Amino acid sequence: MVVKKICCVGAGYVGGPTCSVIALKCPEIHVTVVDLSKSRIDQWNSDKLPIYEPGLDEIVKQCRGRNLFFSTDIETAILEADLIFISVNTPTKTIGNGKGRAPDLKYVEGAARMIAEIAQSDKIVVEKSTVPVRAAESILKILSANQKPGVSYQILSNPEFLAEGTAINDLINADRVLIGGEESPKGKAAIEELCGIYEHWIPREKIFTTNTWSSELSKLAANAMLAQRISSINSLSAVCEATGADVSEVATAVGLDSRIGSKFLQASIGFGGSCFQKDILNLVYICECLNLPEVAAYWQQVVDMNEYQKSRFTAKVIQSLFNTVSGKTVTILGFAFKKNTGDTRETPAIHVAKTLLDEGATLKIYDPKVEEDQIYYDLTHPAVCESPETVKKAISVYHDAYSACENSHAIVLCTEWDEFKTLDYHKIYHVMMKPAYVFDGRKILDHQTLIDIGFHVQTIGKTLQRPLLTRFCGGNTCMH
Ligand code: NAD
Ligand code: UDX
Repeated sequence: MVVKKICCVGAGYVGGPTCSVIALKCPEIHVTVVDLSKSRIDQWNSDKLPIYEPGLDEIVKQCRGRNLFFSTDIETAILEADLIFISVNTPTKTIGNGKGRAPDLKYVEGAARMIAEIAQSDKIVVEKSTVPVRAAESILKILSANQKPGVSYQILSNPEFLAEGTAINDLINADRVLIGGEESPKGKAAIEELCGIYEHWIPREKIFTTNTWSSELSKLAANAMLAQRISSINSLSAVCEATGADVSEVATAVGLDSRIGSKFLQASIGFGGSCFQKDILNLVYICECLNLPEVAAYWQQVVDMNEYQKSRFTAKVIQSLFNTVSGKTVTILGFAFKKNTGDTRETPAIHVAKTLLDEGATLKIYDPKVEEDQIYYDLTHPAVCESPETVKKAISVYHDAYSACENSHAIVLCTEWDEFKTLDYHKIYHVMMKPAYVFDGRKILDHQTLIDIGFHVQTIGKTLQRPLLTRFCGGNTCMH
């Protein structure tokens, strides 16, 4: 089989960008991305794509209608495809057995059942979604149980390693592409077909092929180990704050060891995003099911440390504001889980906002890319609040940072957007209530300049000293 047509089931943060890059790099392959959500597909076919990702618009514009298509006609796309990516969501289960830890595979199962029902010819089915080890076995079971005569399937695991905000670069200049498959001749042939697609732009030595289970586990392991580094540096940030050490200096010193390396050692308010927590909990659950409680406890600690960091930071905000935010106005700068994305899944900003709202604060929120509706949705979700009407009254969303800071008692910076570094903080200081506070949850601001302006500044992993005069006058009557 030579792959001429690809279908991708799931037009999300992974399916959309991945298939756009495949279409760009393989002009002779016809790529159709399908989704059950008509509104999502309509957005992919419009000028305003459903996700913000630097570089994505240009690629979609170049390929859409040429060899890249977005459609709700799932049946035709599956019927015609030689190779099908399953890129559907695999969220943590919210009910039933494994609730709060196991991934909910209902969307993967749904996709497999659709393929089984529709397919009339041989297909290579590729798991792109992040799944538990041996999920390919379940997909194969569903496909085989519903197999039509003369139709055969090969299941491959091809986990995606892109990070949001840098997805296009991560896809075009991937560190590696991982493909797992059966060690049979047919399995090897299917692996070769998928290798052939990536070889349009990825050097062969960067395409690593393994057995299916190693590939599935490697994805969980990679995310667990990345998140572990963040939790490790965040745990040390607490030690820094208590001792006078500076976590940035510690991270640099530690990262200079070539065995450790400098990446993913940015202490922060805590990691967010749709993957890290979900995938570690998935790993924890697998370990529990395999009767490996010590291993499960080890990885659980990475998530627990992240919860601790988010709570520790928010407690510090409240404590600094004279231990009460009731009746105070707090500005949240940044709501996305990281810069260069509009995605808010598991963003630490939700934790911060929820805690401040529970304590009676009024919030003014600004993010350059998160839609207003999304912020309201996140903060009034039943998992976050009991009284949506009260929350709606207590929050307002702004379209620029300056108006979001007016008459506010404190700024809490939750996302490291570049534009926050270059705001005119003199101007902001003058429109804020005094004493004016800045809590830099991302360590991106020039703290000394802010202190010189008159702000009280707190950050992660470093204790900042205010000059005596400003400390003495407490900012209230200070002329700064
Ligand atoms: P997403 O929620 O953005 O997109 C998934 C899409 O699948 C949704 O639009 C949904 O409507 C669609 N869908 C679900 N069932 C369907 C079906 N039966 N038929 C057609 N469409 C269906 O999710 P995502 O962020 O793209 O993640 C997808 C998978 O990739 C997850 O397993 C995730 O863990 C993994 N992953 C995500 C990232 C990331 O940065 N977001 C990175 C690597 C891996
Ligand atoms: C992650 C993995 O990086 C990617 O390989 C995988 O495919 C999906 O999950 P993503 O969640 O999109 O990607 O972004 P990432 O850059 O990993 O950041 C995750 C969170 O960790 C963000 O909240 C980010 O701000 C935080 N982070 C990251 C830190 O707090 N410190 C760091 O040093 C790095």
